[in-house]
Amino acid sequence: MSDEVPSESLIAQAAQLLRQGRLVAFPTETVYGLGADATQPEAVAKIFAAKGRPAGNPLIVHVASVDIARRYVADWPARAQNLAEAFWPGPLSLILPRGDAIASAVTAGGPTVAIRVPRHPLTLALLRAFGGPVAAPSANRSNHISPTTAQHVRQELGSSVDLVLDGGACEVGIESTVLDLSGPRLRILRPGDITAEQIAAVVNEPVELLSGHVVHASDSAASPGQQAVHYAPRTPAYRFESNQLQEVLRWQMHQTGRVAVIRVAPVAAANPVQDSVDASEQATGQNILPADPARYAHYLYATLRRLDEANLESMAIELPPDQPEWLAVRDRLFRAARPWTSA
Ligand code: TXA
Ligand code: MG
Repeated sequence: MSDEVPSESLIAQAAQLLRQGRLVAFPTETVYGLGADATQPEAVAKIFAAKGRPAGNPLIVHVASVDIARRYVADWPARAQNLAEAFWPGPLSLILPRGDAIASAVTAGGPTVAIRVPRHPLTLALLRAFGGPVAAPSANRSNHISPTTAQHVRQELGSSVDLVLDGGACEVGIESTVLDLSGPRLRILRPGDITAEQIAAVVNEPVELLSGHVVHASDSAASPGQQAVHYAPRTPAYRFESNQLQEVLRWQMHQTGRVAVIRVAPVAAANPVQDSVDASEQATGQNILPADPARYAHYLYATLRRLDEANLESMAIELPPDQPEWLAVRDRLFRAARPWTSA
């Protein structure tokens, strides 16, 4: 369990499993990862099999340090160095031309590789002990909710993973920002805890969002727009804007089946929810998440997972405001839930 400090021998055992081409799940500051040696094609193939992941979706490579990262890319521009110094270890994946040692399945056969140094002491110890690059997508079945505890990983992947390192609940709670450095202009392919504004401030150049919107150091960001349903709970999930709240609550009242509503805490109430918010036994009724983006993100996946296990007919999720600091959370909600309509 998470209150036991994993011993050095457990880290050594995990590193040994990776060398043997086996799968090790580990905590990061974002979500749990399902790791394999990124230089061994057979090991990488096991990740795709365990997740049921399409071969065309490339994996993120995790390393212990900037120096090690540089060995696995074909080019390390000054802006990569600046970003790595500013944000690593941390939730920023950099896409760069791929180095030869990385198995081609990791990059889905493509010319670029996503790489990052995660910020979790246990996993940094593992990466140092292993020494090389570890390919790791989120440790969930493909298209399901990313795991933020070791128990979630076991629920998702069971015996297909050889070892799960338990590092407690993930601090950030949503996946890393994915930044493409391989083109002429910096592009965020997936928003995360590290924002376009923070990146633009470090590199001193414009950063493009996938939506095409360009963020300058002092700009506000655009909404992510509607995207394919992804990261989804199995229970039908609907998203709604705050101005639909009363309508949704009336709808909820008139449902015959059990329907849960996830709300953002009214900002007016100073700190209305405690950190036990996701421990609530009450599945139906209103589940209230913090009105702060970082704290909201921390609880989001665990809340979706808890509601998903409650045999509900459906769940309706209030979208936080369309503002830059909420971009990553809104992105995940757009992927997890369909638009709610009163019809
Ligand atoms: O926070 C995270 O990034 C977590 C932890 C475990 O590090 N990992 C994670 O991996 O979320 P995954 O596989 O669930 O998501 C990786 C994302 C996908 O959207 C994938 O398409 C994109 O990164 N990606 C990876 N390599 C890429 C590449 N070379 N070019 C473009 N996109 C890439
Ligand atoms: Mg994933």
